[in-house]
Amino acid sequence: MGSTTAELFSSLLGLWLLLCSCVCPGSAEPRPPPDKIAIIGAGIGGTSAAYYLRQKFGKDVKIDLFERGEVGGRLATTAVAGQDYESGGSIIHPLNLHMKRFVKDLGLSAVKGSDGLMGVYNGEKLVFEESHWFIITMIKLIWHYGFQFLRMHMWVEDMLDKFMRIYRYQSHDYAFSSVEKLLHALGGDDFLQLLNRTLLETLEKAGFSEKFLNEIVTPVMRSNYGQSMGINSFAGAVSLAGAESGLWAVEGGNKLVCLGLLQASKGNLISGSVMYIEEKTRTKQTGNPTKMYEVVYQTGSEIRSDFYDIVLVATPLNRKMSNITFLNFDPPIEEFHQYYQHIVTTFIKGQLNTTVFSSRALDQFDLSAVFTTDNPDLFINSIGIVSPVREKDNPKPSTDGTYVWKIFSQDILTKQQILKYFLSYDCAVKKSWLAYPHYKPPEKCPSIILHDRLYYLNGIECAASAMEMSAIAAHNAALLAYHRWNEYTDMIDQEDLYEKLKTEL
Ligand SMILES: Cc1cc2nc3c(=O)[nH]c(=O)nc-3n(C[C@H](O)[C@H](O)[C@H](O)COP(=O)(O)OP(=O)(O)OC[C@H]3O[C@@H](n4cnc5c(N)ncnc54)[C@H](O)[C@@H]3O)c2cc1C
Ligand SMILES: *[C@@H]1O[C@H](CO)[C@@H](O)[C@H](O)[C@H]1NC(C)=O
Ligand SMILES: *[C@@H]1O[C@H](CO)[C@@H](O)[C@H](O)[C@H]1NC(C)=O
Ligand SMILES: *[C@@H]1O[C@H](CO)[C@@H](O)[C@H](O)[C@H]1NC(C)=O
Repeated sequence: MGSTTAELFSSLLGLWLLLCSCVCPGSAEPRPPPDKIAIIGAGIGGTSAAYYLRQKFGKDVKIDLFERGEVGGRLATTAVAGQDYESGGSIIHPLNLHMKRFVKDLGLSAVKGSDGLMGVYNGEKLVFEESHWFIITMIKLIWHYGFQFLRMHMWVEDMLDKFMRIYRYQSHDYAFSSVEKLLHALGGDDFLQLLNRTLLETLEKAGFSEKFLNEIVTPVMRSNYGQSMGINSFAGAVSLAGAESGLWAVEGGNKLVCLGLLQASKGNLISGSVMYIEEKTRTKQTGNPTKMYEVVYQTGSEIRSDFYDIVLVATPLNRKMSNITFLNFDPPIEEFHQYYQHIVTTFIKGQLNTTVFSSRALDQFDLSAVFTTDNPDLFINSIGIVSPVREKDNPKPSTDGTYVWKIFSQDILTKQQILKYFLSYDCAVKKSWLAYPHYKPPEKCPSIILHDRLYYLNGIECAASAMEMSAIAAHNAALLAYHRWNEYTDMIDQEDLYEKLKTEL
């Protein structure tokens, strides 16, 4: 209204500069996109990578996804008495923004996690038990542990707060060339230190009592990572966040996200097992000799191969799991020997023997989940009632009054072991996993860039394994592949991003 021409001019100039800085983040025009990209593994990591690569490189690039099992990988459902249940990755945190976004963009819906009551069993008795009355639960917590649960909550919130910076960086297209650099950009040296210290060391140092660590924190680690307080502190924080409220899952099964992303990315699914990757020089149609990667895979009894400009490995690289050999690379591509934790999920439809846990009458036992402390006599990590993936409300007993329980254990349970916890049962369905890394700080994270245009996503699991971590690694790898293809070096490993982006709109 009262603005002078000069003011108007300067604000227009400002607007123009702003627009320009958004439209062309790098300096140069992008070079023509690659012809073909291969992704190995169609779990949440591989399928979200396809989705982000499509966004960055456009509609013309051909994206092949190799999968030797089922789309979804460690996101899978298992049928029990005619209904499907999550047998792998099951719960999602309310602040897992990539997962939230996928569900929204793909037109899927979320279901609330169970809000039943939880107890902790030490092999003899319940050492802690929630009440229907929130206030009573609070009084019990304070009575047993003082205000430690509140301090714990604040510790996790602080971590989560820093962790959330990744979404801002990624929405501005910034990428990182290593897991360490990514974590450093989120929380500086403090965050990196978390990988070097066990959860026990970190929490003892912060003054938490042995009783609280044994009876509350350990049971959460046993349930979420099948391990104890020896895991690295970052994975510990992620696992504690997974015990907060507001958790959710995808209606119909979490693996629907993978199927949806595959379709939305127009990726081409190849059912086969990748055996070798080798760099070779090929003459393209343009006549120029070009360095490409040959991917050799087995499909049925046939061995086939194809050539790619860029390859993303979206499965843990070790002999037991992916068994991929990198041929003739000079220098050779580092072999990873990360050991993955064996975990068995057992679904049991039956009647729990509640007297194992408490002397109360059967109809007064109201816990829907029991976690366990570190006791060598215990052969289960946790047990809880679960709902089928299509059920929106809290679990209901079937007509005979029994529920479906999910047990996590280190080894396959024998019939005798099951009968130690159940009065009777009609069926037990088991699923074995190499589930997540066996954490042993100090963690040394595998590289993201294995070779010029060859990227590895699952190194991020050394910090913590979760669906959202794989989605973050996938977004990062897609951005990294794009910026390196176009030589937009100023979009990679920027220092002080947090400060820089603070001042931006
Ligand atoms: C029992 C259990 C409980 C969990 N609970 C949770 C939870 O509650 N919340 C959470 O966020 N996370 C949880 N997780 C972790 C989460 O499931 C994983 O971090 C995530 O699913 C990993 O996804 P990904 O795509 O990186 O790997 P994967 O899902 O393992 O995908 C890799 C894919 O590659 C395929 N593949 C491997 N080698 C080859 C080859 N040579 N050729 C072709 N294909 C190949 C595999 O078949 C697989 O499908 C849990 C995991 C397990 C096992
Ligand atoms: C963590 O430990 C590794 C050795 O395993 C060391 O190289 C690294 O500097 C340590 N990082 C921090 C932040 O202390
Ligand atoms: C890995 O693959 C090779 C062939 O590529 C095979 O000979 C070997 O048995 C496989 N190892 C495992 C552990 O599956
Ligand atoms: C139930 O568990 C209690 C305590 O372990 C045990 O004494 C009892 O025999 C069990 N009941 C059945 C029917 O197995």
